[in-house]
Amino acid sequence: MKTSKVIALLSQDKKHVEVEVKGWVRTFRANRFIALNDGSTINNIQCVVDFENTAEETLTRITTGAAVHIKGLLVESQGRGQTVEIQASEISILGDSDPEEYPIQPKKHSMEFLRENAHLRVRTNTFSAVMRLRSALSFAVHQYFQNNGFYYVNTPIITGSDAEGAGEMFRVTSLDLKNPPKDDNGDIDHSQDFFGKETNLTVSGQLEAENYAMALGNVYTFGPTFRAENSNTSRHLSEFWMIEPEMAFYELDDNMDLAESFIKYVVKYALDNCKDDLEFLNQRLLDEEKGKPQAERSDMSLIEKLHFVTDNNFKRVTYTEAIEILRNCKPNKKKKFNYLIDEWGADLQSEHERFLVEKHFKCPVILFDYPANIKAFYMRLNEDGKTVRAMDILFPGIGEIVGGSQREERLDVLKSKMAELDIDEKELWWYLDLRRFGTAVHSGFGLGFERLVMFATGMSNIRDVIPFPRTPQNAEF
Ligand code: 4AD
Ligand code: MG
Repeated sequence: MKTSKVIALLSQDKKHVEVEVKGWVRTFRANRFIALNDGSTINNIQCVVDFENTAEETLTRITTGAAVHIKGLLVESQGRGQTVEIQASEISILGDSDPEEYPIQPKKHSMEFLRENAHLRVRTNTFSAVMRLRSALSFAVHQYFQNNGFYYVNTPIITGSDAEGAGEMFRVTSLDLKNPPKDDNGDIDHSQDFFGKETNLTVSGQLEAENYAMALGNVYTFGPTFRAENSNTSRHLSEFWMIEPEMAFYELDDNMDLAESFIKYVVKYALDNCKDDLEFLNQRLLDEEKGKPQAERSDMSLIEKLHFVTDNNFKRVTYTEAIEILRNCKPNKKKKFNYLIDEWGADLQSEHERFLVEKHFKCPVILFDYPANIKAFYMRLNEDGKTVRAMDILFPGIGEIVGGSQREERLDVLKSKMAELDIDEKELWWYLDLRRFGTAVHSGFGLGFERLVMFATGMSNIRDVIPFPRTPQNAEF
């Protein structure tokens, strides 16, 4: 392969050399200037066409969206806006693009329009920047854990258990839906299904990760998870990627320390390694904010927000303290919240989480020690008998980014909790076995990867940080 990537050419010291590039035409101006992008960087390289010596037929085929192969001399640029350019000597059209029909015109498109064209939207500056950042962040996730003695575990995507106990699962079956086998009670007979039992797409790899932590010590998963909740919000996907570390011998404080250090590491990685894309996204957000009323504008730019996270401690607050703050806050007293907080035990909605983070503490917050009855069955019961060792990390503009806990390692306590919630011991015999054979204190958390990408890119809708979003009524592409 003789072709170079645009990112390499733009920073190449050696000038007046023959180079070759392949990429897609972003714009073609004055029958002379091609802005070429090959995805390696947000920046285009300018290719100057010698139109007098180029066939008319070729010139008409250099259109926005076309794939081209260009050979020429790399020189210092005469024009403004770029340091180098290519004086093209040979241009071949690899793939034509009908300028009348190509949806991604060189102008501003609405996010809605781009979602409808998700197969092509990555050819815009915004989406290519977001997707390069997404890739860098996922590399940083692995790097953090691999550098810190964690093993990567691939937990199953098809499972028979409901880890979160919320019942919001997609069924996996190979039964004939028109004519499923029935048992004597007239219910669908899953013993005749593919796996001989009811199965679904996993909502979390945690329970299986716990098994591995209790042998390998520190492990993490990073894979797709599925939730059939019918929430059409800017922060929920039906298919999203979750990172779930699980650590033997960690108490809740150790868990919080790890989560905070992990998030700071990956955000710093983005700041250090994605400068061009972040600068573009920073400017994009500034432009977007200009259109908003003063009161709604953020007092920090995107890059400032990222530095704020890496440079400041997250505020750690108990649920009980948070409820006191919320009970007495202005929006609660003036009945501005959709859900008013009047007593201890209330589940927090995103409006409350965002009030705490954005208005009250003005920094990332770790809330811990939640009431047992609003959290999952596996969380460790505190001595007070009513709270559990849960922690949620709340981020500005995002709300909950992490959910985690110390796990209930005591067999008798776990069994009575499961009985209380009507969870069948037979379904989770393998999970209970961990508490039978060498049980130990352990903890873990789950970070929603797309929520992290939203934070790092400043995108305001989760549908715009995953290549092909899956949401209720939407599985195109
Ligand atoms: O709080 P959740 O439900 O926790 C768990 O699944 C635990 N098993 C994690 C663990 O302890 N190992 O989900 C964890 C995170 C949330 O904080 C949120 O960031 C993200 O996953 N998340 C979603 N992201 C996008 N779309 C959805 N529908 C999400 N639901 C949860
Ligand atoms: Mg949660």
